[in-house]
Amino acid sequence: MSERKPAHVVVFGNEKGGSGKSTLAMHVITGLLRAGYSVASADLDIRQRSLTRFLENRHQQARRRGLSLRSPAHAALQGCAEGRQTLREEREFAEFAEAVSWMEYNYDFLILDTPGSDSYLCRLGHAMADTLVTPVNDSFIDFDVIARRAGQGRGRLEASQYSRMVAKARRKRREADGGEIDWIVVRNRLSSIQANNKLRVGSELQAASSHIGYRTAEGFGERVIYRELFPRGLTLFDVFDRDSGVRPTMSHVSARHEVRRLIDALRLPTGKARRLPAIDPLKTSIPA
Ligand SMILES: Nc1ncnc2c1ncn2[C@@H]1O[C@H](COP(=O)(O)OP(=O)(O)O)[C@@H](O)[C@H]1O
Ligand SMILES: [Mg+2]
Repeated sequence: MSERKPAHVVVFGNEKGGSGKSTLAMHVITGLLRAGYSVASADLDIRQRSLTRFLENRHQQARRRGLSLRSPAHAALQGCAEGRQTLREEREFAEFAEAVSWMEYNYDFLILDTPGSDSYLCRLGHAMADTLVTPVNDSFIDFDVIARRAGQGRGRLEASQYSRMVAKARRKRREADGGEIDWIVVRNRLSSIQANNKLRVGSELQAASSHIGYRTAEGFGERVIYRELFPRGLTLFDVFDRDSGVRPTMSHVSARHEVRRLIDALRLPTGKARRLPAIDPLKTSIPA
């Protein structure tokens, strides 16, 4: 057995698609790489593969512009669509275990991006989390995935489906190695105006936090630059470099501040970064 400390596992999860899991994951990955940590990532969203596509864009951009953009060692899981459920799960478990066991002992951080729907791979990922980050948009549809009020919205707060899945993952994690999952709910795509809805979603998320067992952190505002950076394979940690091809604006400066604030709020373990390990090409499904 390895004497080395296993990687700190950060999972981005929310049963709702489009809430910002992949966008936040890309930024946390590049932020940690910039800070000198060694980072591996795995894409458990076998349908959308946004994180994988982002990294492909990043490698193309680096080649095209001759940039040196740091990227994580990455595994894009394939999943299994054929056969009986038990067989599919066996195969997916084997694929997952093979990808992450190697990464777990060779990197400081392992980042898992998960799909916006319940799946076996998604549950496996959650049960490995040291830190779970759940972005939610400013609507009661998003809040409803986490908690809801009984009695036509006026009664006591109850855990919704996703929170029950997280509770199960927490139990599994405790049974497996006594570990605890630090769950952080982050608001994403906040509008700049103080709309009523925004205030109400904020106060309900706060009210549910101790009951459901998460803490909250300030997230990202609604900014078109998050959408524009994806096809270029860049994040806000890259755009200030010379030759990035992006002319930074005040919006980039404010957004980078938001991203840094989020990474601080995650309270990830810091300490001496390990040297970057040699990348095993078999485990890195993105061309170098
Ligand atoms: N803060 C934001 N401001 C503007 N657009 C955003 C923001 N966060 C995410 N998006 C956009 O919303 C869409 C969904 O985000 P994504 O990260 O893919 O969500 P998920 O991974 O949860 O499905 C993408 O087009 C993304 O660029
Ligand atoms: Mg995604």
